[in-house]
Amino acid sequence: MRILMVCLGNICRSPLAEGILREKTKDLNVQTDSAGTSAYHVDEAPDLRSIQIARKYNINISDLRGRQFSVDDFDNFDKIYVMDRSNYNNVLQLARNEEDRAKVDLILNEIEPNSNAEVPDPYYGGDQGFENVYKMLDVATDNILEKIKNGKL
Ligand code: 4NP
Repeated sequence: MRILMVCLGNICRSPLAEGILREKTKDLNVQTDSAGTSAYHVDEAPDLRSIQIARKYNINISDLRGRQFSVDDFDNFDKIYVMDRSNYNNVLQLARNEEDRAKVDLILNEIEPNSNAEVPDPYYGGDQGFENVYKMLDVATDNILEKIKNGKL
């Protein structure tokens, strides 16, 4: 199972989602990665606020580096989770066929199916935003882990 997390910059939300899922699946045959729909932060480490909130929960994401989402990702991943509806539209624009489109979903739909709720962009907000994002991603990745274990993903 190969799972890709996607946001806009690949420095705040998606590296956090990747790091949390990487930790939860470390004993399983799961590959995790993340990417941004933009090229703004290619090769950069995660935002310090994401590194710090992950560290607070004993997860190290400082090794991750930004990269841009590309059409090859549809071939290289089984499931592509996006953080918000803008990411969803940007990724879907690159999809070549129904198989590609079927791999993409908003990550919070793993908490509340079909809600199409968004992980808010914390980049311009305060630290509370990162705690809020962490908590959402923690629940969503718990549900993803359960699905993986039950062969439902
Ligand atoms: P992310 O947050 O999409 O969660 O990584 C952002 C990071 C950087 C920018 C926007 C959102 N930016 O415009 O540089």
